[in-house]
Amino acid sequence: MDLLFTNIGLLATPAGSAARKGKAQGEITLIENAAIGVLGDKIFYAGPAGQAPSAARVIDCGGRLVTPGLVDCHTHLVFGGWREKELSLKLAGVSYLDILKGGGGILNTVKYTRAATEAELTAKASGLLSEMLRHGTTTAECKSGYGLTLEDERKQLRVVKALQGTQPVDLVSTFLGAHAIPVDYAGNRSDYIRLVCEEMMPAVMKEGLAEYCDVFCETAVFNPEESALILERAKELGFGVKAHVDEIDPIGGAEMTAAAGCISAEHLIRASDRGIRDMAEKNVIAVLLPATSFYLDKPFARARKMIAEGVAVAVATDFNPGSSPSLNLQFPMNLACLRYRLTPAEVLTAVTLNAAAAIGRQESIGTLEPGKHADIVIWDAPNLAYILYRYGNNLVHTVVKNGKVFPVGI
Ligand code: NIG
Ligand code: FE
Repeated sequence: MDLLFTNIGLLATPAGSAARKGKAQGEITLIENAAIGVLGDKIFYAGPAGQAPSAARVIDCGGRLVTPGLVDCHTHLVFGGWREKELSLKLAGVSYLDILKGGGGILNTVKYTRAATEAELTAKASGLLSEMLRHGTTTAECKSGYGLTLEDERKQLRVVKALQGTQPVDLVSTFLGAHAIPVDYAGNRSDYIRLVCEEMMPAVMKEGLAEYCDVFCETAVFNPEESALILERAKELGFGVKAHVDEIDPIGGAEMTAAAGCISAEHLIRASDRGIRDMAEKNVIAVLLPATSFYLDKPFARARKMIAEGVAVAVATDFNPGSSPSLNLQFPMNLACLRYRLTPAEVLTAVTLNAAAAIGRQESIGTLEPGKHADIVIWDAPNLAYILYRYGNNLVHTVVKNGKVFPVGI
């Protein structure tokens, strides 16, 4: 064996290779005085220290908490510019959708992203990814949707492709051409939908630029019927499908994701009872984004109800320049505990195994078990409750990604 992590005070991990729902979301494996053995980029052993095999190199974890690497299953990583100028509008009480209707919001980021070169976007995203890694994220999903022309969407997606393998964080790419109606199609939404379905999606699929297709199903953006049409076409072309739904207004988005066969429904702040039941029945994973509720000053999604109804819950950052400008997944973890009232064990499952399942990676990541990728976080913390309680600090001590060790803390 290449590498042995010893003196793990507490190893905490969900188990298995399927999303965990209901009571099982809160049932995790806890082993005191544990060790993890790594061979190449995979876990070879994870269990009691006494039974661990020997290895060429030993890393003493100093009695710390060790968990799987965090999986951020919903980000808008690649974009030009920032939007701190919207802060004064927010403080003056202008709503998120009103900023968008006024040609700002997402459409502002579209302007900056179109103006940026591929090299500039790559350099910026690469810096953001190393910041993510330092906060414990070892895999991230990245959505396009700030180009809104064939060329600019491809440019964003090519950045993700270029960064896959040239920096440590593993990336999963999602096409979000249906993120907003661009200004030049304002009176002509059906033409834009046609462009997305008939030109952008086939090109993106042909060039292998994205695995999933997403749509922003919301008042004044894409309605549930339009969203279903877009996702239907995406499935025909071979994409997995997911959607931003019921973020601001309850318009039947959750129901739409269940009917459309989505792997995940994301946001769900205003999801209806019926929508939650439909999701449970069709095994749609709820990707909840509490930092967005926080930043937009919106209600928090009904996570406890979702768990009670048997929906697997994942939690992510929604990192983007408009509604969630923080890429630190520890903050949504804190909010998931303090605002959703998830237990520390449920939160851990939400940002590891369930998040992995929301992007189809449950077989290879999300738990500390032999055969899975050696994606590991060593925390400056003695137990799980501690990281959910000491919010506001980066409590990561060391990150291990595919067996490579990245020291973070002091
Ligand atoms: O998930 N809701 C739509 N998209 C993003 C926000 C994008 C933006 O404001 O730039 C979200 O919140
Ligand atoms: Fe989002």
